[in-house]
Amino acid sequence: MFEIEGHLEVRDHRLFIGGVDAVDLVGEHGSPIFVTNEERIRENYRRYQRAFPDADVYYAVKANGNLTILRILAKEGAGADVFSGGELYMALLAGIPRDRILFNGNSKTERELRYALQTGVRLSVDSLDELKTLASLARESGKVAEIAIRVNPAISPETHPKIATGLSTSKFGIPYTQVIEAYDMAERLEGVKPIGIHCHIGSQITDLTPFVETVKRMMEMVEQIDRLGVKLEFLDLGSGLGIPYRKDEPVPTPEDLADAILPVFKECSDAIGLHPRLILEPGRYITGDTTVLLTKVNLVKEANKRFVGVDAGFNLLIRPAMYDAYHYVLVANKADLPPSGLYTIAGPICESGDILAHDRELPAVERGDVIAVLDAGAYGFSMSSQYNGRPRAAEILVSKGRAYVIREHETVNDLLAKQRVPPHLL
Ligand code: LLP
Repeated sequence: MFEIEGHLEVRDHRLFIGGVDAVDLVGEHGSPIFVTNEERIRENYRRYQRAFPDADVYYAVKANGNLTILRILAKEGAGADVFSGGELYMALLAGIPRDRILFNGNSKTERELRYALQTGVRLSVDSLDELKTLASLARESGKVAEIAIRVNPAISPETHPKIATGLSTSKFGIPYTQVIEAYDMAERLEGVKPIGIHCHIGSQITDLTPFVETVKRMMEMVEQIDRLGVKLEFLDLGSGLGIPYRKDEPVPTPEDLADAILPVFKECSDAIGLHPRLILEPGRYITGDTTVLLTKVNLVKEANKRFVGVDAGFNLLIRPAMYDAYHYVLVANKADLPPSGLYTIAGPICESGDILAHDRELPAVERGDVIAVLDAGAYGFSMSSQYNGRPRAAEILVSKGRAYVIREHETVNDLLAKQRVPPHLL
């Protein structure tokens, strides 16, 4: 078993998060619940910002868009990468200043473009078609949109194919071979002002080489764009830094990432005499390890394998089913007891793929135990669904030893909330 460190600890065999007993939280708030530690969000954000003191850190809201979490980050001074009108609305509501928000998206609606124009945030434009639409909407409303162009740098990171976004075959961005044309067009179009350049090569990347290649390629673009007479104020490198889900494998830290890319960035900047400001958009690093998903054991079944049936499945954490992702699990009420055998943690969803963890060494598991699934703070709740008629779980924030409900459990009323029955069926 890995040494529980950081904001997680074990006292009297029980898991504590941010100094609060996880099992007591289930007793009080029911199961399943996501439990997030405020202090850890702050620590992660500060560590990232410290590693890149001259860069702007824009939190990727898609990782976890809970309003309270966004408020914490707003108070820390974070900017935001938003990917929809909904995320933009939430980021502004949380108090993130509009001049520290970048509206990304590969297929924005006209309504979203109008909303972005109305709020005055900057946009990352993903296609020539979108560029023209945005420019004409901006002219209609008498505004000028400050934009970056999302470049597809055709760089292949070692990660799950579903979360590699900078491959030449990816749906994101404008191929780097067409980028000069795009800036040329943007410069001449009324209604848009190109002031930055943007890319994002993928997520959960644990090898630093592709990041270094990306910096070099993007700085080549910056130089060529400058030759068109377009002065770029910022270079947004997106994000993608992985976190140690497996606990036993070393994963590069923000400091390692900074050591790898900042000297190259400086060298390229000095060589071409252009010094755009760096923007980074971490999501997973900021919220991933801040949150534990607690789920109660309904039953243990001896079959071909020993299955533990719990009350959370891919309706709440889709990462294992969707990306074969590994999440460390432990028994929250037996956290440091010796292992007794292999267990497979199965969710309650009617799909064979609904397995949260395969063949894990755990202490003897029984009905009523509480399984803790670690690192559930990024792409957990934000990707959840009501599949199989399951209301979503509550979210709890622990802060200075106290627990706050930051999102209530959904109920069956939430399953019905937007449904209408035609009169002939009433
Ligand atoms: N910026 C852009 C433009 C992005 O598309 C993303 C993530 C990020 C920043 C944040 O990347 P991060 O720091 O979290 O790696 N659901 C998948 C991950 C999808 C990532 C989508 N884009 C997962 O659970 O692994």
